[in-house]
Amino acid sequence: MRLDRFLVRNDAGTCREIRNLLDCGRVAVDGDIETNGLRKIDRFSKIEVDGTPLQAVEAVYLMLHKPAGYLSATSDPHHPTVIDLIDHPLRNELHLAGRLDRASTGLVLLTNDGRWSKRITEPTKEIAKVYQVTTRDEIAAESIAVFAIGIYFAYEDLTTRPAILEILAPREARVTIHEGRYHQVKRMFHAVGNQVLTLHRDRIGPLALDAGLTPGASRSLTPSEVARFQ
Ligand code: URA
Repeated sequence: MRLDRFLVRNDAGTCREIRNLLDCGRVAVDGDIETNGLRKIDRFSKIEVDGTPLQAVEAVYLMLHKPAGYLSATSDPHHPTVIDLIDHPLRNELHLAGRLDRASTGLVLLTNDGRWSKRITEPTKEIAKVYQVTTRDEIAAESIAVFAIGIYFAYEDLTTRPAILEILAPREARVTIHEGRYHQVKRMFHAVGNQVLTLHRDRIGPLALDAGLTPGASRSLTPSEVARFQ
């Protein structure tokens, strides 16, 4: 939205008065004086006139320990969604910064700040996602190289980016990927002739699932945790 239109909508004055406010350097955006009414702002921009904020949108950042059986969606006619687990007054404004399959468990981030979630989900950012996996069959040591080289997904006609497979036990592994293709980890194991039985996300980039959160529980991120995704 344009700054001048935002000022009109928020009753900062008539068009002429707003022009004056801008010309006189009485309007600030995110702490800096702004004289250009055409400046693009969004709902998280902090707009002040003479130092008084015009609006206060509370930015919400949550981590959730997703249990199995919940959809990574904001609403669904058939299944409970992760939003059903959230007890926050702004829960209906939240979206997910990355999904987990219905059967999968672990770290999910929710926010109403689209710029922040984009920093996490934008493919070019290559944020690492770490999963604990149990499998039907023993994990072959050769799979380490296959995951590292990349696996061709015919449906999307692409090869997955190098992934790290660490075999922790015959049927247990840690997998680190830097993208988020549909059912990616399950399809990678399928490609090497195995099958994922359970999938749990431990970490997204610099943020690990809080060990104190039981399945279904969530908490707000601290300002320093939010700032880790810059
Ligand atoms: N890979 C999967 O197969 N499922 C997920 O939920 C996440 C990554």
